[in-house]
Amino acid sequence: MGKDQIRLLIVEDVPQVAQYIRGLLNAQSTIKLLEVLTDGSKAAGQISQLRPDVIVVDALLQGRIKGLQLVDQLHGGGIGLPMIVLTVPQHPIEPDPERGIHAVLMMPFSGFDLMNKVSGVHHSFQASAQAAGSRVVTVFAPKGGVGKTTIAFNLAVAMAQAGRRTALIDGSLQFGDLRSLLKVPPDAPSILDLPTDRVQESDLADVMWRDPSGVDILLAPPRIEQAEMVTVRDVDKILSLLRRVYEVVVIDTPAALTDTTLSFLDACDTIVEIVTFDSTTIHNTLAMADTFRSIGYPPSKVRYLVNRADSSGGMDTSELGKAIGRVPEHYVVSDGRLVIQANNRGVPFVLAEPGAQVSLDITRVAAELLVGDRVPVGARR
Ligand SMILES: Nc1ncnc2c1ncn2[C@@H]1O[C@H](COP(=O)(O)OP(=O)(O)OP(=O)(O)O)[C@@H](O)[C@H]1O
Ligand SMILES: [Mg+2]
Repeated sequence: MGKDQIRLLIVEDVPQVAQYIRGLLNAQSTIKLLEVLTDGSKAAGQISQLRPDVIVVDALLQGRIKGLQLVDQLHGGGIGLPMIVLTVPQHPIEPDPERGIHAVLMMPFSGFDLMNKVSGVHHSFQASAQAAGSRVVTVFAPKGGVGKTTIAFNLAVAMAQAGRRTALIDGSLQFGDLRSLLKVPPDAPSILDLPTDRVQESDLADVMWRDPSGVDILLAPPRIEQAEMVTVRDVDKILSLLRRVYEVVVIDTPAALTDTTLSFLDACDTIVEIVTFDSTTIHNTLAMADTFRSIGYPPSKVRYLVNRADSSGGMDTSELGKAIGRVPEHYVVSDGRLVIQANNRGVPFVLAEPGAQVSLDITRVAAELLVGDRVPVGARR
């Protein structure tokens, strides 16, 4: 539970006030007081070490850097954290998120006021970061070899082509399908190279694989047995971080419904479930729909994509729709030559041959998925 605590850093040079706050926080465990700094000039360095979630700054802070100067300095430096300013009635200050002042705490305050403000700014800051963030799409199928990796990769590239900052996560954690598709060197960094405790934006730069296609890829671990080192908690943290940095996050998954795959499915906005004209796939798709219903996913969370939609194996699309109990939302044709050639070279076919039908189909699916995107901040969920 310790990891869910809100990490608080206080910049306060009046010992009595610091002592008072310590006393208020002693009796609870929601907020973890990391440290009380008395010197504003040390704050920036301490923040990058201690990684707080919320910072409280006394507006009347003396010393080389005064209280509000510090707030301006931290905000100007892009700390990306909510700050609460502490003041007295003789020195009224208004909250001003544009300036980095997310809340104001007026002395004297109670333990309730303090906890309320701290958890309030923390949660609303997180929520708006998420809403302002992106569309997360998981490409999934309850069946192997139906084109998940191929489609996830090309879809991500099409999203990037549509001008969205796009990340692709190799969620096939055991076999790292994207590692082999893109032929990345074995020592290329992976999801395991992200710190597990407090991941922050700056950690991403070293870990994302920058594909020439314009998509940043978070690779799976290089070895099969390392897959189990990635926990559900890691997945949640990584996704909330990627949401802040990227407009679109596409996730490739394995066919098996492991707990990490489930956490990708839970955390995403849209599941693109691949179906093919094949009785096993149809059977598994129905079973999966049952499972999704019992987990409580709204039907609109799942969108069916018929892959190789023109190679019907004696079944037409309306029959397929009947079999899966729903009209599929998306179609992608088969193109054995182009898809296999592009995959063998580790390049996206949407760039290799943008005019081919299969590329046009993926580009259209990308556009269909982006419709209704860019919802106003706070409106999602
Ligand atoms: N639209 C398509 N046209 C032609 N070939 C395709 C198409 N989609 C996928 N394929 C081919 O199908 C094979 C399986 O694709 P892919 O590896 O993407 O599937 P997968 O669902 O990720 O498999 P796994 O379950 O092993 O992860 C590949 O050889 C790929 O080239
Ligand atoms: Mg795959």
